[in-house]
Amino acid sequence: MTVTVSDITPTTGVEITALVGDRLVDRQVAEECRAALDRRGVVIYREAHIGDDDLVAFSRLLGQVVPLPLGGHPTHCEIQRITRDPSKSPLAACREGTFHWHIDGTTDEVPNKATLLTARQVPDDGGGDTEFANTFAAYEAMSDTEKAELDGLRVVHGFAASQLLVTPDPSPRERAAWDRNPSREQPLVWTRAGGRRSLLIGATAGEVVGRPAAEGRALLDDLLDRATRPEFTLRHRWRRGDLVIWDNTGMLHRALPYGEASSRLMHRTSLAGEELVA
Ligand code: OGA
Ligand code: MN
Repeated sequence: MTVTVSDITPTTGVEITALVGDRLVDRQVAEECRAALDRRGVVIYREAHIGDDDLVAFSRLLGQVVPLPLGGHPTHCEIQRITRDPSKSPLAACREGTFHWHIDGTTDEVPNKATLLTARQVPDDGGGDTEFANTFAAYEAMSDTEKAELDGLRVVHGFAASQLLVTPDPSPRERAAWDRNPSREQPLVWTRAGGRRSLLIGATAGEVVGRPAAEGRALLDDLLDRATRPEFTLRHRWRRGDLVIWDNTGMLHRALPYGEASSRLMHRTSLAGEELVA
């Protein structure tokens, strides 16, 4: 079958068909994937049905694979099982957190470069699509005056901010447990060595440094609303075997809600960050 490559929306996403299984584990394919990620933020290999060994091998061709402790995978420490079934993942109870727009690893010094997710089981009730929002494109679309207003602003990212979305009324014990995760201050606008800029926002963004809490919250909410407008977003409807990769440094993402009893099962790997936030 001939390989096809097509852009999905005007700003975001590339869909590639007919590259399956170990055909992905190839230097040239990895190079093209990295280029497509840079250009379009999200790369989708339709029904790639890549096995676990090949998933890790392909991830290694793309970058430095980070081990995922608590991944729940019996044989591969690089693979995390994404599911709400606690018998398959020790993190199953945290999945609701992924239903809100977020960027992975914002409290790390260098957020992950990219995440790979492949669908092992797709529920037939239609829940559990994944959405992406392109914050390179959202920033680009702002006026010069609006961009200037964001210059120099810094944001505190923390686990607690994201948990408040799931549990708005925590007990003091819950609150204390959340607060044991160190938070991190990051610039609101991430400027790359090459000059491109994206917004570092989403569920973990709690406050704007130096602004009253309500004012900072309003700014962060407004930016998130704008960055997730339909023109910057892409909704992926999973088919079993799909492999989806996103540039975690410029794509907000979220899962559309799926139930605790859902059969949805994804296998995930992550690539280490490559550029300090500045
Ligand atoms: C994640 C995540 C989204 C999904 O694994 O970090 O946000 O659709 N997943 O499962
Ligand atoms: Mn995520």
